[in-house]
Amino acid sequence: SRPLRVSCAIAAPPAEDVQIRVKRNENFGKLQAGYLFPEIGRRRRAHQEKHPDAKIISLGIGDTTEPIPKSIAEAMQQAAAGMATLEGYSGYGAEQGKPQLREALCSRFYTHVGRKPNEIFVSDGSKCDIGRLQMMFGSDTTVAVQDPSYPVYVDSSVIMGMTGEYDESSKGFGNLTYMVCRPENNFFPDLSKVKATDLIFFCNPNNPTGAAATRQQLEELVAFARKNGSILIYDAAYAIYIAESDLPKTIFEIPGAEECCMETCSFSKYAGFTGVRLGWTVVPEQLKFADGSPVINDFNRIMTTIFNGASVIAQAGGLAALEDEGFREMNDLVAFYRENAAILRKTFVDLGFSVYGGENAPYIWVGFPGKPSWDVFAEILEKCNIVTTPGSGFGPAGEGFVRASAFGHREDILEAVERFKKEFGGR
Ligand code: MLT
Repeated sequence: SRPLRVSCAIAAPPAEDVQIRVKRNENFGKLQAGYLFPEIGRRRRAHQEKHPDAKIISLGIGDTTEPIPKSIAEAMQQAAAGMATLEGYSGYGAEQGKPQLREALCSRFYTHVGRKPNEIFVSDGSKCDIGRLQMMFGSDTTVAVQDPSYPVYVDSSVIMGMTGEYDESSKGFGNLTYMVCRPENNFFPDLSKVKATDLIFFCNPNNPTGAAATRQQLEELVAFARKNGSILIYDAAYAIYIAESDLPKTIFEIPGAEECCMETCSFSKYAGFTGVRLGWTVVPEQLKFADGSPVINDFNRIMTTIFNGASVIAQAGGLAALEDEGFREMNDLVAFYRENAAILRKTFVDLGFSVYGGENAPYIWVGFPGKPSWDVFAEILEKCNIVTTPGSGFGPAGEGFVRASAFGHREDILEAVERFKKEFGGR
């Protein structure tokens, strides 16, 4: 028998019959082109179309490539299978995250620096938390960012309406404070020249430069925030990559940070959770707004209002990653990417480039002085079939650099090395 087909004969009304009255949020018009990584993806696809046989290697977006460690994946499998049983099923959980996970995060990373489990909010990732933080602070705040920096801080500030217009001559936004971080200042801003702002975004180890701040530098930064009454939003997404033992791994190692800082972090680059989605943000009880009200209360309100808690399956994975076996496996995974970083770093050094990062971070920052970085990106794609990320995509001070990501299969990293040697060996 044939399936019954019902067709509907109502014709669509003519498009000109509708005039939506909703104005576009004018801040979207201020954003520069697309978000950086989709734009890179677009150029990669265009290159592939032009050269269908090219085997493109991506050292572009920092996206993890290796399987999730066994004990962590198994915990998620079990949690997923449990959802099909009466005993294992769970619906909404606490919006702030499972208490066991908050406790485990605290004891692995924060108890020794005085933080408490109730100050840790589990989420679907740092990028999402940054958006929620922006919503919490509202659009009347002023913002400072490292230059170059992770584009989410800038673009979310633009969307919120904090930045004013884009200025073509400075390649930056009028009301945004750019804290220049270049080799000349060891990638740490000269704070004596930085304007006081309400919020300061600071990513350490830095994406994209790979620079990791010293204790003394972070002390200076915290003192600067305290002096100005600013709140420092410290992004520790790559803290686990810090190899030098005397470098701080959390901002809360710095005395006084609890009164002016919050910290966001993620399992993405720790345990290969870029697709699983799990992160956290720490808001100390001591952090207060100008009127004396605790920031933690408003962050809790945001999380309970527009977020319903991270996936219970992802949280089972997070919990396993913090148990002894999972923690070991997670650190082995990080060590693998660190080796990739060392291989890439050595290659660029041997080829005679100015090379930064790659030692305490999974990003290598390579100098191409005097060359627009989108041109360098295009040249590397054309000659080597390798995708990188142009430095200027991270801010005006990123001009003249490209970023190479160490997230990749080992054979791809080694193949990329051969291609770089072949094309740039005779410089
Ligand atoms: C990057 O390439 O900078 C990262 O993948 C960005 C991110 O983690 O969202």
